[in-house]
Amino acid sequence: PTGSVADRFARPLHDLRISVTDRCNFRCVYCMPKEVFDSSYQFLPQSSLLSFEEITRVASLAVAHGVEKLRLTGGEPLLRKHVETLIAELSALRTPAGRELDLTLTTNGSLLAKKAQALKDAGLKRVTVSLDALSDEVFKRMNDVDFSVEEVLHGIEVAHQAGLGPIKINMVVKRGWNEQEIVPMARYFKDTPFILRFIEYMDVGSSNGWRMDEVVPSADVVRRIDAAMPLEKIAANAVGETAERWRYRDGAGEVGVISSVTQAFCHSCNRARLSTEGKLYTCLFATGGHDLRALLRGGRTDEEISTVLAHIWRAREDRYSALRTSNTEGLDAPVRKVEMSYIGG
Ligand code: GTP
Ligand code: 5AD
Ligand code: SF4
Ligand code: SF4
Repeated sequence: PTGSVADRFARPLHDLRISVTDRCNFRCVYCMPKEVFDSSYQFLPQSSLLSFEEITRVASLAVAHGVEKLRLTGGEPLLRKHVETLIAELSALRTPAGRELDLTLTTNGSLLAKKAQALKDAGLKRVTVSLDALSDEVFKRMNDVDFSVEEVLHGIEVAHQAGLGPIKINMVVKRGWNEQEIVPMARYFKDTPFILRFIEYMDVGSSNGWRMDEVVPSADVVRRIDAAMPLEKIAANAVGETAERWRYRDGAGEVGVISSVTQAFCHSCNRARLSTEGKLYTCLFATGGHDLRALLRGGRTDEEISTVLAHIWRAREDRYSALRTSNTEGLDAPVRKVEMSYIGG
């Protein structure tokens, strides 16, 4: 039961996002607010985490079904002990046609200076680093653990020197918090090898107290940058890409905007998500996942698990963001969506 699979809307399975820990050393206000993720918060116990062997097994079955891109996420993925061992195992996988995979990781950058070389040596291709402001005061207010901008910038530089590029920088924009940082961030990263992307604040999870009026629409972001440094739209790199790309008219690089609230991209969404404890989610906003760990630990053969994977994907009809855009009110159901720190964004 191998070969590529498509879901009910003909979307192929192409990316697998793997969360390797639900813990993080930051408490970003839009993701792990301190009031909820405090000292009494129950993170997953060690025994419930998938082992590296189990993760690699799922990944290899997904690759047989057409996955060409693997992204490690968290929480903060670099907090997972010996994560480079997992990367080495994953980097040995090949597509059915014998190609290498796009193997990448999304990090807050705090441990990057220390780990970049080991990650590169293990076979990681590139990293994406989150950074929400250039102002230390604003950044510290957002990460809520007093982490400085300078340390993240240093991590980015070390990763760049180690060859983990092209590096993308993710900035979540939250109204009233960091919108004044949009143009300074754009100016700072213009004419560098780094690709800055602005992300609309999303209603993911059930604890960040999301409100529509705190979203700064990407169209506003583009307008503000364009007024200072003229932009023009450019074509997507790949089908299903999250970001819309814009380049500076003077040729000094590009920026991206990820508009999951105002311009949903569900129609081409080709991503599956594997949680830290081995549940497979077919949408970032899903309320439940499929328990693969039970199969992995229940003595099922590769063939059986592979069949289950194909069934799950073929039955998929998720398009949360597209529905939310057309009917925001109706979707405010009292269901608990899974947390971003659990599913990895
Ligand atoms: P690239 O390979 O660099 O293009 O990565 P990416 O944009 O797929 O991943 P990244 O981890 O950098 O995510 C950027 C932002 O897009 C984050 O805020 C994610 O939560 C969000 N995002 C990624 N995939 C999806 C998705 O399928 N749906 C929604 N709604 N948001 C997504
Ligand atoms: N809305 C949008 N992006 C978010 N991220 C975390 N929480 C949210 C949210 N509520 C971003 C992180 C990281 C990426 C994986 O997801 O900043 O860059
Ligand atoms: Fe941690 Fe990333 Fe969530 Fe911030 S956005 S709390 S760095 S997982
Ligand atoms: Fe994909 Fe769900 Fe995001 Fe839509 S909301 S793009 S279906 S993960």
